[in-house]
Amino acid sequence: MPFHSFLSLRYSASSRRIQFRRLRQSNPTRCRNPNSKKMSSPMEISVSKPESTETVAETETIKIANGVVLESNVPAQTQMIPKHSPPPPPLPSVASEVAASPSLPDDKFLVSVEVCLKPSSTARLDDVRTCVERMLETRCLSYSNGPVPIPKDDQCLVENVQSICICDTDEWVKNGEVILFWQVKPLVHVYQLSEEGPCEELGGDGQNSSFNEWTLPAKEFDGMWESLIFESGLKERLLRYAASALLFSEKGVNPFLVSWNRIILLHGPPGTGKTSLCKALAQKLSIRFSSRYPQSQLIEVNAHSLFSKWFSESGKLVAKLFQSIQEMVEDENNLVFVLIDEVESLAAARNAALSGSEPSDSIRVVNALLTQLDKLKSSPNVIIMTTSNITAAIDIAFVDRADIKAYVGPPTLQARYEILRSCLHELLRSGILKNLKDKALDILTFPNLKEKLQSSEMQEAEASLTMSRQLFEVAEACDGLSGRSLRKLPFLAHAAVAHTFNCDPVKFLCTMIDTAKRECSEIPD
Ligand SMILES: Nc1ncnc2c1ncn2[C@@H]1O[C@H](COP(=O)(O)OP(=O)(O)O)[C@@H](O)[C@H]1O
Ligand SMILES: [Mg+2]
Repeated sequence: MPFHSFLSLRYSASSRRIQFRRLRQSNPTRCRNPNSKKMSSPMEISVSKPESTETVAETETIKIANGVVLESNVPAQTQMIPKHSPPPPPLPSVASEVAASPSLPDDKFLVSVEVCLKPSSTARLDDVRTCVERMLETRCLSYSNGPVPIPKDDQCLVENVQSICICDTDEWVKNGEVILFWQVKPLVHVYQLSEEGPCEELGGDGQNSSFNEWTLPAKEFDGMWESLIFESGLKERLLRYAASALLFSEKGVNPFLVSWNRIILLHGPPGTGKTSLCKALAQKLSIRFSSRYPQSQLIEVNAHSLFSKWFSESGKLVAKLFQSIQEMVEDENNLVFVLIDEVESLAAARNAALSGSEPSDSIRVVNALLTQLDKLKSSPNVIIMTTSNITAAIDIAFVDRADIKAYVGPPTLQARYEILRSCLHELLRSGILKNLKDKALDILTFPNLKEKLQSSEMQEAEASLTMSRQLFEVAEACDGLSGRSLRKLPFLAHAAVAHTFNCDPVKFLCTMIDTAKRECSEIPD
């Protein structure tokens, strides 16, 4: 858990006034404006009586992690922090909440809180939502991205909830800073992961088809969104785009007057996370829009394998597939995502068929697919996601009209550092790398490392700083590698070190630099 999320609250029993201080730097006014505050260090919240001088004896302490009270020596009724917020406004619909402007009229920030139910839970989603809202209201003092510990004394949550996660506070504040409870209107999304796995349609020859269908949110995509690291703002931009598109549909905006569509195209070199991002986005939206759309499906069409297997089957199977998609779409409680991966192969196949180098059947498949997609486009509860490995214009009309065309390039230095950092934490967690002196090693985040390198204060634990600097060198050496290659690098480095179990992290990082250089030298020009 990031250390900035640990707060210490000091409380004077008969207080009326609340003051906030960072542990090392006292400045009560800094926290009032979330845009100006900087709280990368633990923060102390003092609640003191204006006229009384605070004494140690009078002060009581509450331990908080990610805003939730974990331990306290304050009597129960005094833990209830007075509510400074006016009564909440009437609830807008989910889509309008997600797409709302940053500042609500009463100056509150909308913060999504995702609550994953245990697979065994049979509780009603609304009941759990109420429990979580109550817990947040009575215990949550600050909001920063990351997991919230489930209070052990809350039976409803202990029995039913697997995880609670605060998301997207960085829309309002940067670098993991904290927002305080009265500035927040939490949007609680409760969901249960589907464990069904992909359902594959059989092709005409009895082989697996080129389509996969998933019930969302699916267990397989759990954590995918968080694991993807891009230049700042790409994921948020996509989420907001999709939210606006669904809101326009829900509100029945006239498409002749305002034109928009629900087509996304992600393009860029292979291995940069495009397919994963589409799946993760579908998963995220299925969670965020679950009040409006209780069911969600993802249909994954691999355009490339469609042609290697299916051109002899003409367009029949495509038509069959789209018929079943159409049935899903007719139920207005369904949110349907259609992912066409490597969409450029449709254009390539069509061109090849036109020039006579491919069987003419393939043109029928392409045309059937494009016609069906064009039809689907008008349904309000469908989002079409496409990916392409080529960055040049794709000669397919429906992609051409995509509202969001985002280039997904090789990761930047910061993204490379963060991707590799997540890999190292996983190796430390699993015991492949040895934690020095039996203490969990915490590798600094990129912004924290930059700050440390620039400032003269070097009190950071030596091992952590050394590792972070080495990791920075690895990230620099990986210039040009895709996200996919980066995620493989620790494995390749491990295969190259002598002591393969419980490796020394410092030696391991040296091997990683060599491995990175070798991998980069093998990138074709
Ligand atoms: N920006 C990124 N951040 C984190 N992981 C990434 C990133 N890009 C790629 N990856 C990793 O590479 C794998 C392959 O990515 P994929 O979505 O198949 O790429 P593409 O569709 O662009 O070829 C992903 O599962 C993910 O683990
Ligand atoms: Mg792909």
